[in-house]
Amino acid sequence: MAPFFFLTFFSLLTTHLSHAQLSCLTLQSINKIVYNHCNELPHLNSYLHWSLDASKNTLSIAFVARPATTDGWISWAINPTGDGMPGAQALVAFKASNGSMVVKTFNISSYSSIMEGKLAFNVKDTRADYFDGVMRIFATVELPEKGMTSVNQVWQVGPSVSADGFPAKHAFQPANLGAKGRLDLLSGQSSSGPSGGIGGGDSRTKKRNIHGILNAVSWGILFPVGVIIARYLRAFPSADPAWFYLHAFCQVSAYAIGVAGWATGLKLGSELKGVTYNTHRSIGIALFSLATVQIFALFLRPNKDHKFRFYWNIYHHGIGYSILVLGILNVFKGLDILSPESKWRSAYIITISTLGALALLLEVITWIVIMKRKSSKSTKPYDNKQQPLAP
Ligand SMILES: *[C@@H]1O[C@H](CO)[C@@H](O)[C@H](O)[C@H]1NC(C)=O
Ligand SMILES: *[C@@H]1O[C@H](CO)[C@@H](O)[C@H](O)[C@H]1NC(C)=O
Repeated sequence: MAPFFFLTFFSLLTTHLSHAQLSCLTLQSINKIVYNHCNELPHLNSYLHWSLDASKNTLSIAFVARPATTDGWISWAINPTGDGMPGAQALVAFKASNGSMVVKTFNISSYSSIMEGKLAFNVKDTRADYFDGVMRIFATVELPEKGMTSVNQVWQVGPSVSADGFPAKHAFQPANLGAKGRLDLLSGQSSSGPSGGIGGGDSRTKKRNIHGILNAVSWGILFPVGVIIARYLRAFPSADPAWFYLHAFCQVSAYAIGVAGWATGLKLGSELKGVTYNTHRSIGIALFSLATVQIFALFLRPNKDHKFRFYWNIYHHGIGYSILVLGILNVFKGLDILSPESKWRSAYIITISTLGALALLLEVITWIVIMKRKSSKSTKPYDNKQQPLAP
């Protein structure tokens, strides 16, 4: 079992070290510009990082989205006169035919009149980049009026750009049509309409962090610690029955925290429109089911000498190791989705590697103890209280 343990740890570490998905947290500071706010916009898997400079009346933004195709465009706009596309003063980014990213400004006075040119407000420091299928528009806009507390924003992604640099029509799916809302410059929230609606990215980020911490602590740390206690403390006669209570305490607390974390995850999942993290979700549901079965195992445990105890052990250990592997795997899947600052991922990797190294050390010690016991068994009668090491 131990080699399997380590193979799992290290394959998890290597496959998950570099890969990262879009989220507010990945991009909190971009090229040394630190944005004070980030909103996960409610449609099109898009993000807006922004800072308000009230004294200069400017808004610095970084709009992040995936274009509809790799040859597509992304756009973010302020609409000073309405709340949809007509009237929007848009920044559009795409890859020019010479291969470099360009930002153009479009005055969209109506669906039929989309003019490249100056906007109703000054825009400076425009720039765009394209990396890993994700485009970003950077800009500093002078707010249309002094002291504005909110602006209407519109964003969009499209499939292609004509040879003369004009963005092709975007799709008319509900997500495309719904990609507009109000950005509240005072509270930092974005909402899907003047009357509120989907919660802002900031509060959702907080909920996601709570979900991440609960689950990393329970499935990702407490459960493995409980397994290590059960597997290795038990080899020492003096630790009986203390190991059992420690083990049960660890796993029952892990389960309680894990269920709370699981529930926050389901809630978060149901709030996400149009994005589902299927693997993370499925593993989460499997974990909850297995762990619930495992809690029942505690009550169904036959006596040590019962003839069914052997089968119970196989079942308990089988499910236990499955939870261990799936739990750690899902913490990494969750880290991919949440993409917190790299120190969090590093902290978890260090914790789990330390536990892995501890397990390896204890595995060696256990085998030395067993070998010694075997060699002294020939001279001493077998100590009946010892349980065989399983599995
Ligand atoms: C590429 O084309 C865009 C406009 O089409 C232009 O602004 C930019 O300077 C060009 N870049 C290079 C490196 O030629
Ligand atoms: C945008 O287009 C409309 C209609 O053509 C025009 O009235 C308006 O002045 C334009 N805005 C700017 C900033 O050029």
